[in-house]
Amino acid sequence: MDFPLDFHHIGIACRDIHKTQVFYVAMGYTPSPVVDDPLQHVRVCFLVKEGAPRLELLEPLDEQNPVARTLETAGVSPYHICYKVQDIDAAVAELRKQRFLLVNGPVVACAMDNRRVAFLFQKNTGLIELVEKTAR
Ligand code: NI
Repeated sequence: MDFPLDFHHIGIACRDIHKTQVFYVAMGYTPSPVVDDPLQHVRVCFLVKEGAPRLELLEPLDEQNPVARTLETAGVSPYHICYKVQDIDAAVAELRKQRFLLVNGPVVACAMDNRRVAFLFQKNTGLIELVEKTAR
C-alpha cells in the first residue's frame, strides 16, 4: 500500500459508556468528556493511557447505526480499528481498489475534533475506520 495507515484507536461497542469505562479507569485509563455525535447516532468517550492503545467507547443513541447491530449480535465487543491518514479521500480510493466497501463517509466527526472519518468493510479484514490527521 503506498500510503501509511497509522493506528489511532480500537472502537468498542457498549450499551452504557459509564458502566463499561469503570474497568478501564481502574486499569489506569483516563476518560475524555463524553460527546454525542448526532450525525453518527452515537455517544463517544475516548480512553487514553500511556503505552496502551487508545480506546473509543461507542454507545448507540438510537437503533439506526452499526453499533446497535453489533451489540445485538456480539454484545459489548471491539468492533472496529481506526487508522489515521494524511489524505482520507486518497485512502478511501486506494482501499476501494482493494475491494473494501465504503460503508459511511467521509463525514465530519464532532467527537474527533471535526476531522473527517470514513468506515470501510472488507470480508477478510472486517470493519475499519479512517480518520484524517487534521481538520480541513
Ligand atoms: Ni472509531
